[in-house]
Amino acid sequence: MTISMSAAAATNAVALHHLKPSANQIAAFPTTLSRQSTSTTRPISITSSSTAFQTTSPPPTVASASDRVFNFAAGPATLPENVLLKAQSELYNWRGSGMSVMEMSHRGKEFLSIIQKAESDLRSLLNIPSEYSVLFLQGGATTQFASIPLNLCKPDDAVDYVVTGSWSDKAFKEAAKYCKPKSIWSGKSDKYTNIPAFETLDQTPHAKYLHICANETIHGVEFKDYPKPAAENEVLIADMSSNFCSKPVDVSKFGLIYAGAQKNVGPSGVTIAIIRSDLIGNCQPVTPVMLDYKIHADNDSLYNTPPCYGIYMCGLVFEDLLAQGGLNEVEQKNLNKAGILYDAIDGSKGFYRCPVEKSVRSLMNVPFTLAKPELEAEFIKEAAKEKMVQLKGHRSVGGMRASIYNAMPLAGVEKLVAFMADFQARHDA
Ligand SMILES: Cc1ncc(COP(=O)(O)O)c(C=O)c1O
Repeated sequence: MTISMSAAAATNAVALHHLKPSANQIAAFPTTLSRQSTSTTRPISITSSSTAFQTTSPPPTVASASDRVFNFAAGPATLPENVLLKAQSELYNWRGSGMSVMEMSHRGKEFLSIIQKAESDLRSLLNIPSEYSVLFLQGGATTQFASIPLNLCKPDDAVDYVVTGSWSDKAFKEAAKYCKPKSIWSGKSDKYTNIPAFETLDQTPHAKYLHICANETIHGVEFKDYPKPAAENEVLIADMSSNFCSKPVDVSKFGLIYAGAQKNVGPSGVTIAIIRSDLIGNCQPVTPVMLDYKIHADNDSLYNTPPCYGIYMCGLVFEDLLAQGGLNEVEQKNLNKAGILYDAIDGSKGFYRCPVEKSVRSLMNVPFTLAKPELEAEFIKEAAKEKMVQLKGHRSVGGMRASIYNAMPLAGVEKLVAFMADFQARHDA
């Protein structure tokens, strides 16, 4: 039986010339599929035999750069365009292996070379000391909220949490199932717009660790420096999900750094943990095997099937960050982008407002409101028409939020700022 039908090709034909890759970029990462016509209908034929259905569809339409938007989402978030193009060029046949990375055995030599290179590039980027293990895990940063106390504490151990926003609050609440956490500071009464002065922290003597969220994605507050744990042998732990690899970090100040990949370094599905090796191997007996850092460290993150494609993508991002000159360079770009956006907000004579205390404003997530909240929906709608999407603030906070991770081009921030000025001129009566 043969059925023929037409399907609308999901092409978004609005031109966005700013994102067009240069001829050099395309030549550097040649695609194995040639560009197809972007006609709106194409035939799909489905053929069935008595034993199986076979589907035959034409090669997919290759979207052009002009179809892309500036994506200000908090995560999953925008990825570097040259990384996407490189992944596209390698998707069908990875470097002559005759298969896609998605089809490879995680124990084969091809994937081993991918995960080892990803780890070694990350070590170079963050200058990770040799006594630290790098683990590629699953379950999101949320799973780490449980893994950390399970691996680092006994049920009666005291640990301290600095609660600067929703994510550190979630981490604190999860820890209560596995040890005795104390919230030694909370910014809740100020709607999470600040970071405490470290000398005011009432740290618990003999706490096993001090946990912070280095950048609160929802509220846009970021630690610019890090507190020192008070107790001897106590370690500092940081959730760096939303500012991972956005600037240099002295890893040796921390016992453990963890981050979901889907904001700055790859797609969702990969969580990276950087842990001092002496902290590994003491988990509580009830710890599920998948949450035991020792299992993952002893097996080089290959105890079970890892998120292979996600790790490959993270590896491409690490390569790209190194090619940009490393994290000092990346930080300068992020400072510049964030400066332009905060200046636009602060210079708007109150039309736009950022609630966060200036000294701790995030370089990655910029929340802002309008003095006339009734205009916010219109702002978001009009911005989307201009191909700037995902600017709505988190549902718990409202307003707007522009996430401007590493991969957000300067042109995206400049376009947003120009739009904001134009919107203000039209509505600031
Ligand atoms: C700072 C921070 N921590 C933890 C999480 C939870 O990450 P996941 O969804 O990967 O579990 C997020 C997600 O947005 C986050 O921004």
